[in-house]
Amino acid sequence: MTETLKIDLYAKNLDETQAIATQLAQLVPAGTIILLEGNLGSGKTTFMQAFGHALGISTTIASPTFTLIDEYTEGRLPLYHIDLYRLEPSQVPSLHLEEYWRGEDFPLGVVAIEWASKLPNIPPQHLKINLSTPVRALCDKDMYLSQADALDEDFIDDLPSDRLIQLIAQGETYVELLNQFQTTSQEAFAKVN
Ligand SMILES: Nc1ncnc2c1ncn2[C@@H]1O[C@H](COP(=O)(O)OP(=O)(O)OP(=O)(O)O)[C@@H](O)[C@H]1O
Ligand SMILES: [Mg+2]
Repeated sequence: MTETLKIDLYAKNLDETQAIATQLAQLVPAGTIILLEGNLGSGKTTFMQAFGHALGISTTIASPTFTLIDEYTEGRLPLYHIDLYRLEPSQVPSLHLEEYWRGEDFPLGVVAIEWASKLPNIPPQHLKINLSTPVRALCDKDMYLSQADALDEDFIDDLPSDRLIQLIAQGETYVELLNQFQTTSQEAFAKVN
């Protein structure tokens, strides 16, 4: 069986992003690792809010940018929501994130990591979710970030509401998960390729 599978989806608005997150949340097993990538305001937290809601979490899922790690235990599976934006890669090992997917110190659930590119050691088996706006995908990331700093929330508010959502499975379990995702949602979401 192939160890990698990539699906490119197009969400034309927020509702469609939420529908994709909801569909995925209904399929994930305990022990799932989700690595979220995408520029500031691309929708990583928004995706996880819908995902968490579909897991049965009624608490508001906030951005973990400042808390670094938020744990939600009331849903079908525990959700460990992590944001590495404020950290340097060298600071990440001290968080001991592997405890969340080892299944010894914490009950196995879903570990979702925003700004996962800061991980010095990427778990070999995972689902990567890459969010981008079709326009911004063409922009240089650093230029985008400096604009975002200068214009703060107004800049985010002005962003278009469509998104490219790329799902990339690494490893047999995750390939199987995406196959299931495709089988159960073939007609609901537009595929880019
Ligand atoms: N189709 C869409 N999918 C996701 N978010 C959307 C969409 N359309 C509009 N938005 C808006 O874009 C914003 C995304 O912000 P969000 O905090 O989720 O981004 P983020 O990727 O987590 O940013 P950060 O890197 O700062 O953590 C929200 O205000 C959301 O309502
Ligand atoms: Mg976020």
